[in-house]
Amino acid sequence: MLDDDQIPPIDRGALAQTYVMANGKGGVGKTTLASNFAGLVAADGASVLLIDVNGQGNVGRDLGYRHSSIDDEGEALHEALRKGTPLQPVSGVRPNLDVVVGGQHVGTLPDTLAATYRMQQHRQALALAVCLAPIASRYDLVVIDSAPENPPLQQLALSAARWMIAPTRSDRASISDGLGSISRQFQLVRRSVNPGLSLLGVVLFGSGSASKQIHRNARSWVAEELGEDSYLFDTIVRHSEAVGQDARSHGRLVHELEVAAASNPKFWDLRSGRATAGTIVSATSASVAEDLATLAREILTRAAEEDAA
Ligand SMILES: Nc1ncnc2c1ncn2[C@@H]1O[C@H](COP(=O)(O)OP(=O)(O)OP(=O)(O)O)[C@@H](O)[C@H]1O
Ligand SMILES: [Mg+2]
Repeated sequence: MLDDDQIPPIDRGALAQTYVMANGKGGVGKTTLASNFAGLVAADGASVLLIDVNGQGNVGRDLGYRHSSIDDEGEALHEALRKGTPLQPVSGVRPNLDVVVGGQHVGTLPDTLAATYRMQQHRQALALAVCLAPIASRYDLVVIDSAPENPPLQQLALSAARWMIAPTRSDRASISDGLGSISRQFQLVRRSVNPGLSLLGVVLFGSGSASKQIHRNARSWVAEELGEDSYLFDTIVRHSEAVGQDARSHGRLVHELEVAAASNPKFWDLRSGRATAGTIVSATSASVAEDLATLAREILTRAAEEDAA
């Protein structure tokens, strides 16, 4: 049996393309970025795995499988981590996109792991890494969506990743509270079980302003929380509540909404009753889709540059 300070062998090379979206605070865009980053790269032809390490299972809302036959609310994920067996993703949620489904069973994982691997804190934190590493090399890219305000679940997600991306809103409280608390988990995981974890950068999400001053302030607060050399992505995902609502009510990624918006009903079809307002998709989806695509390119370019440095 492992004692407390032994680390199980993990093929870190297989996890070199694993990205986690993390922030201590809720509602800052972690799930939206994880789903759309994974979905965009998959739609472009690469093979992608998306893992939902949340008790809420919001990835299922973004991809439209919530309460469908594939939605086991995280039971398979829970069982794999309890037994230490390889993850068994649901394949083909979109072309080239497989998903490890999250949900309420993920919420009970910390207690289950504490009971199963008593006195082995490193083994507990590495439970996802242990189950992901054997299958990760099937994919070009692995994206992990993580939970807010839940250090044990955050540690699971961070321990399996090579790169952390931290989305945040642009106000001071979001930056100080959210980035401050995830920074503590990041340091802890690096010190204890995953020294190769790097912060790739911080993304301003749902920002309503193009004001340079707001962005300068955000940049200096990010530096206060994460250090002067922390990177703020140039791409900002613009604010649009309509797109956020449409995405989850239709179960579509933002680039898929953009396509749907192109076939919005004609005005007169609404008057004649051939179409209803419920089918209309916000035309702002095209602009947000462009932000998300620009961000995906920036993330991948920066990771390549960091690897080469
Ligand atoms: N471009 C956008 N502008 C503003 N709000 C958006 C945008 N895109 C999505 N939203 C909304 O922002 C909210 C938070 O997004 P999301 O669920 O991705 O955050 P989160 O960090 O994963 O939250 P949680 O911590 O609760 O899991 C959601 O209600 C979503 O619909
Ligand atoms: Mg979320």
